[in-house]
Amino acid sequence: MSNFNQESVLSVHHWTDTLFSFTTTRDPSFRFRNGEFTMIGLKVGDKPLLRAYSVASANYEDRLEFFSIKVPDGPLTSRLQHLKEGEQIIVGRKATGTLVIDNLKNGRNLYLVGTGTGLAPFLSIIKDPETYDRFEKVVLLHGCRHVAELAYGEMINDHLPKDDLIGELVRNQLVYYPTVTRDPFRNRGRITDLMTSGKLFSDIGVAPLESAHDRVMICGSPALLQDTRTLLLDRGFTEGNHGEPGEFVVEKAFVER
Ligand code: A2P
Repeated sequence: MSNFNQESVLSVHHWTDTLFSFTTTRDPSFRFRNGEFTMIGLKVGDKPLLRAYSVASANYEDRLEFFSIKVPDGPLTSRLQHLKEGEQIIVGRKATGTLVIDNLKNGRNLYLVGTGTGLAPFLSIIKDPETYDRFEKVVLLHGCRHVAELAYGEMINDHLPKDDLIGELVRNQLVYYPTVTRDPFRNRGRITDLMTSGKLFSDIGVAPLESAHDRVMICGSPALLQDTRTLLLDRGFTEGNHGEPGEFVVEKAFVER
C-alpha cells in the first residue's frame, strides 16, 4: 500500500503575498493527534516533492488544513502557491511530532508560542476539547513581523468563540495574544522579550512563568526555538519528548522552501 493519499483541494486563501492556507479532502483512514505534522506535496514529473507540514485543522474535522509560506524559488512552495480548487495534492498516511499535549506534564497554564507559520499546529490544539480539560488557561501567542501576517486572527477572535463544540471552552479559557515587531500595533515586540520584561504577563493578567504550573509549546524559526528554550531552561523548565513528558516541547516550523 502506498504511504500517501491523494487529496483534492477544496479551498485556497491568500493572506499576503508570502502566506497562504488551503484545505483538502481527508481520507477517513488518516489519523493524527492535534499538533502533529505530516508530509505533503506534489508530483513533479513522476517524482513526489514533499515537505513536512503541521496539520492546522483539528483531528475531528473532515477537511485537512495547511498554512504555508510562499518562497518564489522554493522547490515546493513556488508550485504549491498556485494550487486551485479541485487540484490534487499528496498527503502522507502517517502523522508525527512533538507538539502534542501528552508530551507535557499536567499544569495550570498552557502557553502556545508560534511565530509566522509556526502558528499552524496550535490552530489544531486550540480546537481540541482535551486541551481545555488538561489546562485551566490556554494562551496563544502569535508573533509576526507585520500586522498583515497575523493570519487566523478573525477565526480565533470571532468564529471559534461561537463554535458549537468548543465555543464555551474558548470563551472561558483561551487568551489570544498577537504581537508584531515591525509595524505599529496594540502589542509590539518579540515574544521572548515580552516574556522577559514581564509585559506579556501584566497585559494578560497572569503571574510570570513558573515551571511548577506553566507549560509551553514552541513552534517557529530555529532562532526562536533556541532563544525560547534558553529562556525556559534558565527558569528551571525541563524539555519533554515522546515517552517523557516535560514542562515544554519544541518543533521547528518546517517549510522554508
Ligand atoms: P524580528 O522582526 O525582531 O526579527 P521570522 O519571519 O524571521 O521568522 O520572524 C517572525 C517573528 O518572530 C518576527 O516578529 C521576529 O521578530 C520574531 N523573531 C525572530 N527571531 C526571534 C527570536 N530568536 N526570538 C524571538 N522572536 C523572534
